[in-house]
Amino acid sequence: MDIIVRDNYDELSEYTAKLIAGFVKSKPDCVLGLATGSTPIGTYKELVRMHKEEGLDFSQVKTFNLDEYYGTGIDLEKPYELDQSYARFMHEELLKHINIKAENIHIPDGLTKTPNEFCKWYEEEIKKAGGIDLQLLGIGADGHWAFNEPGSSLASRTRIQALTRQTLDDNYESFYKKAGIAREEMPHFAITMGIGTILEAKNIIMIANGLKKADVVAKCIEGPVTSQITASAIQLHSGGVTVVLDKDAASKLNSLEHYIHVEKMKQKYGL
Ligand code: PGA
Repeated sequence: MDIIVRDNYDELSEYTAKLIAGFVKSKPDCVLGLATGSTPIGTYKELVRMHKEEGLDFSQVKTFNLDEYYGTGIDLEKPYELDQSYARFMHEELLKHINIKAENIHIPDGLTKTPNEFCKWYEEEIKKAGGIDLQLLGIGADGHWAFNEPGSSLASRTRIQALTRQTLDDNYESFYKKAGIAREEMPHFAITMGIGTILEAKNIIMIANGLKKADVVAKCIEGPVTSQITASAIQLHSGGVTVVLDKDAASKLNSLEHYIHVEKMKQKYGL
């Protein structure tokens, strides 16, 4: 696992976008797993800049998003500003600004009437695409990956999941409040890829910033693997794993100095 620490959020975002762009350049038809939340917004902004200014090409890229609230989706009947769906978020923050083909975009359908069938279909689509080459992830304050709340099986697959109070509070503050939507009107369920699904991605990039993530990041990386912090499953991944943190999110890591030293040495040796 590579642990990269940057001074601030902007540098974290630039570094992460460069990693993703490098991946897209080396495999133009790659399958990217995408995440929502406040953390990746800067990364997406930088990818959009690279597309517009440097011609970063997404024309053959396929994407699969991690999750979606159940009870939302792009709903043309709904006033635009009330649509807090992750589908809307992805279009606004990234997808509508780059040259990705509509048929290559996959986001769980939060309006499906048959969620169990949908979840099976989503897993099949990931397989048909050849699996996810690079999965981008944040980490929730309760240690979740996607909407795999504490207690989710580390072998779980795409399914419907109830959201915890912590997640509802966090997402209310970050998104729903600004849109003037009452907390009790937020969706209380989501469709999410499982931890087992995520671990099958060939490469993983996890990003976190801010002091409020410092405790959970330390537990995730240096604590025991536990279904109480589903992101700790990162320790079970056998492929390329990169964790990109700002100084604040990294501040509670016991081996912080070691990680910083390793990055410097890798640069020196060209590794
Ligand atoms: P955040 O959410 O980026 O809004 O902090 C992260 C997550 O819940 O995975």
